[in-house]
Amino acid sequence: MFRSKRLGDMDEKALKYISSMEWDWWLFKSDIEVDKAHVVMLYQMGYLSREECSSILKAIETIEKDGFDSLPQAEDVHEAIEKKVIELLGEETGGKLHTARSRNDEVATCIRMSTREELVLVMSGLLSLRGTLLDRAEEYLDTIMPGFTHLQHAQPTTLGHHLMAHEESLSRDWDRLFDSVKRVNICPLGSGALSSTGFKLDRELTSKLLGFDSPIENTMDAVSSRDFVLEVVSVLLGLMLNLSRMAEEMILWSTQEFEFVELDDAYTSTSSIMPQKKNPDVAEVMRSRCCSVFGAMTSIAMILKALPLTYNRDLQEINPHLLKALQITRESVDICNAMFRTVKFNVEQLREHVEKGFLCATELADTLVRVEGISFRTAHAIVGMLARKGITKPALEELRDVAQEMGIEVSNITQKDIDDALNPRVAIERRNLGDTSPLKSARKRLKTHGFMLENLENKIKNAR
Ligand code: ARG
Repeated sequence: MFRSKRLGDMDEKALKYISSMEWDWWLFKSDIEVDKAHVVMLYQMGYLSREECSSILKAIETIEKDGFDSLPQAEDVHEAIEKKVIELLGEETGGKLHTARSRNDEVATCIRMSTREELVLVMSGLLSLRGTLLDRAEEYLDTIMPGFTHLQHAQPTTLGHHLMAHEESLSRDWDRLFDSVKRVNICPLGSGALSSTGFKLDRELTSKLLGFDSPIENTMDAVSSRDFVLEVVSVLLGLMLNLSRMAEEMILWSTQEFEFVELDDAYTSTSSIMPQKKNPDVAEVMRSRCCSVFGAMTSIAMILKALPLTYNRDLQEINPHLLKALQITRESVDICNAMFRTVKFNVEQLREHVEKGFLCATELADTLVRVEGISFRTAHAIVGMLARKGITKPALEELRDVAQEMGIEVSNITQKDIDDALNPRVAIERRNLGDTSPLKSARKRLKTHGFMLENLENKIKNAR
């Protein structure tokens, strides 16, 4: 620790208590890059000689090669790396690395870079999951199934329509992730502890070298704000909530009550006592992992609440929550992808279930409106009465009788009109639910998002 001449030794337990080394491995690579960029900039601005610049860079490369695990004990990764540079070069040269810099602007820059990197991975996994959903939707574009509201049979739909619904909501999560990068990818470096520094720095240069869009203007804001973390984690939570709904669906649909799907063996467990069991454990864990992301988000919000400007060590405690949220989400996206890629849909069962629960009642009411010219509310009442009486496949006479009982004259509708209305295929066709154009536009959107991610990745890669 750099206690300098200011302080005596730190209590060992207290050091362990405040040290962030346990999770700072996550910032190691970013800190190495930040160090390199800072050193190059110091040289360009005339604060380091060519030889000093080159030996510090070489020392940093040695540390990079040796890896995080070979760092000395320290409060955090930033101190550990600097300590090692000084160990390798002596204080005369190594001690110049931290010129015109504070750990406050350093750590904020590292967090932004590591977050950016993880976000790219989450977004790339999400593109792949969305691709899987569209592939499966294409496979089952006109596979008929019951659509639900209140978990009750509502109206016929297609499995393609259902799967594309998931894809569309995930595409908005993707959009939000990508948009958050704007607020992540700005560079605090050069802000010093809080009020920049009297050294003349080229903040544009370090920002550019590290692949940022621009430096953060206000140096106090740069070292003290973590709203970008809160934003990212809340977007991750939104995504995880969607995954938990998809997981729930797999759990429900694989029950003996539904039997709409059979999960692949690879994503199920059995029981230690009941030999027949095939349990959806992977989906269950996914359903509950989103709670940890929610926990991370509330922890971050609480740490930020009422924190005075500028840097406070509390901020360090945000990092493990951020890391956890990113890791959980990335893994969940990948596993969800594999689960949906391999699940078997029981087409026969889906079709049979369309026959249960008077799914075409709305279509019958709509037909009465069209053919008889009566109001929808009246038509709703007639079909409601049929449902009440348990007549879900009315003959023309039955329909007329029920209407008459209610004092309504039904005269134009034919048996064919009724049969068509009760045919789920007709309902699907009238609603264009088997149409290929939504799939085409979803694929187009996915492709555009692919290009957007590629551009971002290239920008980061080129900077490196
Ligand atoms: N490990 C610290 C963090 O993550 C680094 C900054 C320490 N700065 C300080 N002034 N003590 O926030």
